[in-house]
Amino acid sequence: VRALVVGSGAREHALAWGLREGGHEVLVVPGNDGVAAHGIACTSEDPEALACDLAVIGPEAPLVAGLADRLRARGRLVVGPGADGARLEASKSFMKEFLVAAGVPTARHGTFGDPGSAREFLSSLRAPYVVKTDGLAAGKGVLVTEDLAAATADVEEKLSGRAFGEAGTTVVIEEGLVGEECSLLVLTDGVRAVPLAPAQDFKRVGDGGTGPNTGGMGVYAPMPLVPGLVEEVMASVISPTLVELARRGIEYRGVLYAGLMLTPSGPQLLEYNVRFGDPETEALVLLYREGLAELLEGCARGELGTAPVARGAAVTVVLAAHGYPEAPRAGDVISGLGVDGQLAEPVEGVVIFHAGTRRRPDGAFETAGGRVLAVSAHAATIAEARERAYRGAEAITFSGKVQRGDIAREVEGAM
Ligand code: AMP
Ligand code: GLY
Repeated sequence: VRALVVGSGAREHALAWGLREGGHEVLVVPGNDGVAAHGIACTSEDPEALACDLAVIGPEAPLVAGLADRLRARGRLVVGPGADGARLEASKSFMKEFLVAAGVPTARHGTFGDPGSAREFLSSLRAPYVVKTDGLAAGKGVLVTEDLAAATADVEEKLSGRAFGEAGTTVVIEEGLVGEECSLLVLTDGVRAVPLAPAQDFKRVGDGGTGPNTGGMGVYAPMPLVPGLVEEVMASVISPTLVELARRGIEYRGVLYAGLMLTPSGPQLLEYNVRFGDPETEALVLLYREGLAELLEGCARGELGTAPVARGAAVTVVLAAHGYPEAPRAGDVISGLGVDGQLAEPVEGVVIFHAGTRRRPDGAFETAGGRVLAVSAHAATIAEARERAYRGAEAITFSGKVQRGDIAREVEGAM
């Protein structure tokens, strides 16, 4: 099978690697220099012009723009919803309206286009306050704060259109939920649904959850949860979502990524993403290896199979560029990588997935984006995977490297 992976980050590198492990011939569009160095073909051609048996679309933007619809119209098998399903991620106000209609547990909220009624709603809530831009904002459109004045100022800033343009002219305000966050990625063909191992993403840039929100600084999976919790989420969140999608005539084949808050009164859905998570995917592919390919094919065909068995544990540590997330610097030379973009001195179980790197004329890699590399490690236990991931991360150096030191630290003993 010839598989196409659309996107240019570490997530797409990981998906391509997993498909290759499953015996597929893989082409990544456009990919990056690190993917190509790993022996995976990349092209900058138009994905619609390329022949393939299976296409997996990584990022949300092409899904929202209807790429899955256009590929399906050409007879391709695709993992990823059409533009109608992708609205679950494209518009937070749509998503919230959908969740309420479906009866999915989610934070109380209101949607506002004018500052006056937004202020009024805010003052009816208790801290923490949550203010979200309606449209896509690359993970940067959400403020969570204990401070009512800061929340009010943020509403005004967002509604002014200065911060996020059109994407910000509507805001969603929510009550803040408290608990542990969990990413549950579920593959669905619209009828059946299969959960992958629960993962925990570390969203803030600094240790202990300090500093600004990022795209994700690291992740581990499986997340140790109370027994039965995944089944509970499948019943209270995923099943009603599938019913509501069908009721609205939305055919959905792809990933439903449930961003959950595990509150004392049960799991609540913070948001849906309509794609694989980044960096969740970089850890998950190591748990399933070749098993993932078959699952993706079944999903795209509408004949989703059963979940492959997750083996062991995986920990991913993201290495980001100097100045991330506000103003990442490009052009810092990376040392510790070989010509294939993997560790020059291999660490057992470690795979390096490239996000923002490029090759210099002398063959060395340099930084070329906010998140630069995802160092992923697989082992029998979280503790061992963590030790391997950090050994790999320390072996890679570049000026201004930003990395968290506490990925999976608190769960080391759990498994
Ligand atoms: P979202 O893009 O909606 O997932 O929001 C990004 C991050 O903001 C989430 O991962 C949470 O850490 C936080 N967040 C979003 N909504 C809430 C909420 N209702 N209560 C507490 N934290 C939230
Ligand atoms: N890890 C967060 C995301 O993919 O949106």
